Amino acid sequence: MSGDPGPDPPAPEAPPAAAPPRRTASVEETEALGEALAPALACGDVLLLTGPLGSGKTRFVAGLARGLAAKARVRSPSFTLVNEYRGRELLLVHLDLYRVEPMDTDALGLEEEIERGALAVEWGEKLPGWLRRGSLALRFDIAGERARVLTASASPGRGLELLEAWRRAAGTP
Ligand SMILES: Nc1ncnc2c1ncn2[C@@H]1O[C@H](COP(=O)(O)OP(=O)(O)OP(=O)(O)O)[C@@H](O)[C@H]1O
Ligand SMILES: [Mg+2]
Repeated sequence: MSGDPGPDPPAPEAPPAAAPPRRTASVEETEALGEALAPALACGDVLLLTGPLGSGKTRFVAGLARGLAAKARVRSPSFTLVNEYRGRELLLVHLDLYRVEPMDTDALGLEEEIERGALAVEWGEKLPGWLRRGSLALRFDIAGERARVLTASASPGRGLELLEAWRRAAGTP
């Protein structure tokens, strides 16, 4: 007898390697996505922020700082290379590698920074492999004058944990 077997049982969900892209329509929306990620961050975490000039990486970090209850205003560290924001429970180390050659990142003392807090790194694709492994990568794209698209991806490990925490906190796009 061949009755309708009914719907297939749901397949066990494999952990996503990439979250669906999220579109923001304002600076505030981009900052809110950073704010949502902040509570999941811990010392030693690395956020790899990539994307063209003006795509919203620094605004996202401003949201992170707000989420960590850091008081200082977030500015682009393009000239200073690194800014630090002391949150209530965590130090946020904000780097901008735009003007740094990948081979020169060894000189930045990142082994020590990573022990002090969480790293948010603009132009993070220039980081050495040992820091990119385990990171949460966030790609920023410009989709219009005020439209930005954020795409998160991570390999299994801490980065994927952060990705999933962010998806939960920021809601489904
Ligand atoms: N939806 C949006 N999200 C974020 N920024 C936006 C958005 N719409 C417009 N903007 C504008 O885009 C610019 C984003 O600047 P931001 O400094 O964050 O870019 P960035 O990616 O850090 O660039 P850079 O590589 O030069 O450091 C700001 O001028 C901001 O006002
Ligand atoms: Mg910037």
